[in-house]
Order: sequence, then structure tokens, then C-alpha cells
Amino acid sequence: MSEAKETPEINMGRIKEIIESYRHQRWPLIPLVQQIQEEFGFIPPRSIPVIAEALNLFPSEVQGVVSFYEQLYTEPRGRNIVRVCRGTACHVRGGKTVLKLVKQQLNLGENQTSDDLEYTLETVACLGVCALSPGMVINNQVYGHMNPKKVKQLLRREEGEE
Ligand code: FES
Repeated sequence: MSEAKETPEINMGRIKEIIESYRHQRWPLIPLVQQIQEEFGFIPPRSIPVIAEALNLFPSEVQGVVSFYEQLYTEPRGRNIVRVCRGTACHVRGGKTVLKLVKQQLNLGENQTSDDLEYTLETVACLGVCALSPGMVINNQVYGHMNPKKVKQLLRREEGEE
């Protein structure tokens, strides 16, 4: 992907309000960054020094916590999150082909987001639906027994084409 990704507008005023609402709590950092992510879809890197200052921490400490948790993101993510399973049960039933097709169809690599922020493609170790392998999830909706035809239909439908 190119680097010319649209950067969503960040309302630093709102971020400061969120920080203010948490700063007197006992363990504010995690819930604070979670709320920022909930509202903005990610944790804007420029909010990190502001959070650090308000909580009397070093920016590296805040950054360390944000980087530690896989479910916290410092880059914008797509409006649609596509997760393809690469676990063993899915792998032996064609999961590799499913992933390849999804990559082709979305024109994305693993953990990439499209420039228009429409899609993020992620892979996971197991979706917890091995009986439905190979499986994938789009925006929390599970799709099982995937095959090339289903991948095509599904992603076409997501794009609003018929
Ligand atoms: S290995 Fe794919 S859902 Fe478990």
C-alpha cells in the first residue's frame, strides 16, 4: 500500500476532554486510551505526549502500554475489518487459498488498511469456530466453510456490488 493514506481529522479538544475525565481516576491509562480508540477508531500518536503529561508519565511509558496490547491501534483502521483464520483446522481445509483470494480481492496484505480506509485485513490464529473451517469474519459476522466462490460473493456484496 502507498503511504498516502487519508488521515482522519483529529479533534484534539475532544481528546483533552477525555483525558480530563479520567485523570483523577486511580488507574486511568487503559480505560482512557480505550475510550480514545472507541471514539476515534485508533489512538492518534500525537495524543500520546498529551496523555503522558496529564498523567505524570513519560511518553515512552504510554507508548509502551499502547504497543503492548494487540487490540490498541495507533494507526487508523478500515471501516470494515476482515479477519481470516490461519489456524491449523482452517489451514488444512483451504484457509491458505481463502487468505490469498481475500488479499487479491481487497488488494491488501496482512495487517494493511486500504488508502480509502474502507478495509483492514487481519489474520488470526484461530477464530474459535474450527467446525466451520475455513472461516473468516467481517465486522464480527462469522462466515464459515469458505471457498473461492463464497469469498468473491461475500466481498462483492460488502462492496455493494451485485
Ligand atoms: S483454526 Fe480456524 S477457526 Fe479455529
